[in-house]
Amino acid sequence: MGRALRRVVYNEQDIARRVRDMGTEITSAYPDGDLLVLGLLKGSFIFLSDLVRQITRPLQVDFLVASSYGDKTFSSGAVRLLYDPETELEGKHILLVEDIVDTGRTLGRLMDLLKARNPRSLEVCALLHKHIATELKHPTRFVGFDAPNEFLVGYGLDHAENFRHIPYIASLQ
Ligand code: PRP
Repeated sequence: MGRALRRVVYNEQDIARRVRDMGTEITSAYPDGDLLVLGLLKGSFIFLSDLVRQITRPLQVDFLVASSYGDKTFSSGAVRLLYDPETELEGKHILLVEDIVDTGRTLGRLMDLLKARNPRSLEVCALLHKHIATELKHPTRFVGFDAPNEFLVGYGLDHAENFRHIPYIASLQ
């Protein structure tokens, strides 16, 4: 699979415990209204599936696939959705689920687009946050872990599409 792992950063127990607490926090943050949990693919697929099972109030699930134009270092204000949620967003609480906030570019591009759909509220939930984004207009309301500034893989996160399936989060050599 190319690169070797350096160290386990969050093991399965750390992740399960934190995801359970986040589910509790999210459940009490939305006492009423329709909640739509929107997972940003592909990185969020494992986190999202564990998280929604820890939220004990009614919700709907849908996904977003955003194009990064193949070059993540190019900071364009534009975003193109390769998959646009079929569920109606207007009037609902939207919780956008990310695996990791790194530079914050992905979020910066998506939030304006989602706001334009007139949701009742729009918040971000990220399992990992590196806190290195300098121009993040929209704060991340729910954060799992303040992550070290290393290249992290596992639990959905990849390096060249590898490592997404490992059940813990590790850094690469
Ligand atoms: C990764 C990750 C986040 C984003 C974070 O996605 O899943 O969505 O980068 O980085 P940023 O804060 O610097 O924008 P990627 O584009 O690699 O796609 P993937 O989810 O399919 O792995």
